Amino acid sequence: MSGPTADLFADDALQQPAGREQIGEESYVLRGYALPWIERLLPELRRVLAQSPFRQMVTPGGFTMSAALSSCGELGWTTDPRGYRYSPLDPRSQQPWPVMPDALRQLAEAAATEAGFSDFLPDACLINRYVPGAKMSLHQDKNERSYSAPVVSVSLGLPAIFLFGGHERSDKTQKVSLFHGDVVVWGGVDRLRFHGVMPIKAGEHPVMGAQRINLTFRTAG
Ligand code: SIN
Ligand code: FE2
Repeated sequence: MSGPTADLFADDALQQPAGREQIGEESYVLRGYALPWIERLLPELRRVLAQSPFRQMVTPGGFTMSAALSSCGELGWTTDPRGYRYSPLDPRSQQPWPVMPDALRQLAEAAATEAGFSDFLPDACLINRYVPGAKMSLHQDKNERSYSAPVVSVSLGLPAIFLFGGHERSDKTQKVSLFHGDVVVWGGVDRLRFHGVMPIKAGEHPVMGAQRINLTFRTAG
């Protein structure tokens, strides 16, 4: 193909389709939704991480997770050999997790509304850091007290392939490419669907460097 129409099919046009893509009955990818927030969000995130730095945690099965974790908000998700749970204290410092910055909370609430969940009140923001090779195995988010609120997931930095499955671990998964600024929201009938992230490919993101950071907002308590 040549001429002006060829530009429409250029690689980056294909990689970053704009708008809202439905990936389930009550699940959406909001392409680039976080981009206008990023300048406000990054300094806040830096402050949170200075207080509660990334650390690698161990699963009850004895495996060290490849993604490094932190949290902000009233509750933070943790794992150790005793189990998975939400805790009001950072186990590293035994102090409360950093307060959820307004920019993060507002972004999460706005994205939830955009996806049809208009009264989302997150009390937990899990922050995952993936270096190249790190992944997240298929799992359900089910340590929250109620499943009436959606999960809002913000992607920053290197691209990822998000696996969106069904209600059984063995169900077929959709592969959804996620880029810097994309937000995924799943809730309602989709709230307990299995999901995961394939190993991150090596690369250098112009804003975030050689990493992917994912923020997942939930109502946990
Ligand atoms: C998660 O399920 O906790 C993380 C999902 C992601 O990194 O996109
Ligand atoms: Fe999850």
